[in-house]
Amino acid sequence: MSANANQNTLTITDNRTGKQYEVPIENGTIRAMDLRKIKTGDDDFGLMTYDPAFMNTASCKSTITFIDGDRGILRYRGYPIEQLAEQSTYLEVAYLLLYGELPTKEQLAEWEWNITHHTFIHESIKKVIDEFNYDAHPMGIFIGTVGALSTFYPEAKDIFDVDCRRKQIHRLIAKVATIAGFSYRHRKGLPYVYPDNDLSYTGNFLNMMFKTTEVKYQPNAVLERALNVLFILHADHEQNCSTNAMRSIGSAHTDPYSSLAGAAAALYGPLHGGANEAVLRMLNEIGSVDRVPEYVKRVKAGEFRLMGFGHRVYKNYDPRAKIIKQIAYEVFEVTGKDPLLDLALELERIALEDEYFVKRKLYPNVDFYSGIIYRAMGFPVDMFPVLFAIPRTSGWISQWVELLEDADQKIARPRQIYLGYDERDYMPIEERKSQIESKARSEGA
Ligand code: CMC
Repeated sequence: MSANANQNTLTITDNRTGKQYEVPIENGTIRAMDLRKIKTGDDDFGLMTYDPAFMNTASCKSTITFIDGDRGILRYRGYPIEQLAEQSTYLEVAYLLLYGELPTKEQLAEWEWNITHHTFIHESIKKVIDEFNYDAHPMGIFIGTVGALSTFYPEAKDIFDVDCRRKQIHRLIAKVATIAGFSYRHRKGLPYVYPDNDLSYTGNFLNMMFKTTEVKYQPNAVLERALNVLFILHADHEQNCSTNAMRSIGSAHTDPYSSLAGAAAALYGPLHGGANEAVLRMLNEIGSVDRVPEYVKRVKAGEFRLMGFGHRVYKNYDPRAKIIKQIAYEVFEVTGKDPLLDLALELERIALEDEYFVKRKLYPNVDFYSGIIYRAMGFPVDMFPVLFAIPRTSGWISQWVELLEDADQKIARPRQIYLGYDERDYMPIEERKSQIESKARSEGA
C-alpha cells in the first residue's frame, strides 16, 4: 500500500494478482466496502478487513463526543468536560448531548419541566419490580424493568415520528432514576419513595434512595452537586461497548426501551460499567496499604487485572478520573474520609511508577475513584453500575437519535471469516461416534 499526500487516495497493489487499486481517503479513513473490489477472480467475494473488538474500525460518523486518548481530552459537542463539570448540570448536559447546543434559559426550563413531569412510573411497573427476588442485583432489576417499559408504551415503536420520539426521550431520562431508586428500595425491603418534583434531578434521586421518615427530604447541597458532576462525567463516551450495543440493537429499528435495556446489559459487565463495583471489591480484598505491593505483583504475574485501570482509548490519565479525584475531597468533608481512599492512592502511586503499567500506558480510569465516593455517599456497592446507567441513558439516546438520522446507517451486520467444515452429509444417529468427546480426548481436555 502507498499513500499520495496530494491526492487523498490510497493506492493498493494486490500482490496475488499484480493489480493496483485506488481507494479514496476521507476523514482519515478508507471505506471497507472499497476493498471489496479487490478480487483474485470473478468468483472471489472480495477483500474484507478482520477487526475483532473494532480495534481500528469506525462504525459511524458522529458529532457528539470527542476523545483524544493520548492527550487525555474529553469533550461533549466541543465543550471540555472540565468546564461542563464545573459550570453545568446533568440535565443541561443531557440537553447538549441530544440537541447539539447548550439550551437558552427558556429551553432549559422547558426541558427540566418535561423531565421532572415524567418521573412517575406506572403502578404496574412498580409491581414488576416487586416480583424480583429479595436479593436481586439492582442492575438486573434495572435492565429488566427498562425493557418492560416497552410494553407500557407500545407507541414507542414509531421511532421516526419526531414528536413521539421526544416523548420517549423525556420518559427514559426521567424514569431511569425512579427505576434505579425503586430497585435499591426493593433490595433493602424499604417502601418506595415517590419522586419529588420540587427537587433537582440528582436531589430527587437522593430522595428516592434515602428518604426515611422526614416529611420532606432535603438533599445535602454538596452531595447533590457531587452527584451532578459524576452524572455529567458519565453521560457519554462515544463508541464504547454499551453505546455500540445501543446502536446495534437500534439499527434493527427496535424501540428505545428495548434497545436501552440491551445497552444497560452491556454496561453491566465487569470490563465496562461493572468495573466500579469490581474496584471496591478489589480494594476491600487488598484490605490494607501494606498489602498493595504483593497485590500489584500478582497483577503483573497475570493472575488478575487491576480493576479501574487501563482503557481502550485513554493511553493517558482519564480526564474523568482527575475530576472525580478532586471532588472526592469535597464529599469527604461532609461524609468523613473513606479509609479505602488511602489504599487507592497508594495503589495508584505504586502502579504509576511500575514499569509494567508505564509500558502499557495503564492509568486510573473513571471507575477507579467513583466507587469510593459513591460508597462514602451511602450507596451500596451493587448500586454502582446502576449509578453509571442513569446518566449514560442521555448518551445512549443521543447516539441512538444520531443513528436514526444518519443516511449512511443500515442494520448492523458484521461479516465473519468462516473456518468451519465444508459441506458434509447428514449422518444417521446409529452411525455416529461422539465426535465432540473424541475430539476433546485427542486435545487432552
Ligand atoms: N490490569 C493489568 N493489566 C492490564 C489491565 C489492568 N487493568 N488492563 C490492560 N492490561 C494489560 C493487558 O494484560 C495487556 O497486556 P499484554 O500486552 O502483556 O497482554 C495490555 O495491558 C493491553 O490490554 P488489553 O486487554 O489489550 O486492552 P483493551 O483495550 O482490550 O482493554 C480494558 C481495555 C478497559 C478492558 C482493560 O484495560 C481492563 O480490563 N481494565 C480493567 C477493567 C476496567 O477498569 N474497566 C473500566 C473501563 S473505563 C469505564 C468504561 O468506560 O467502561
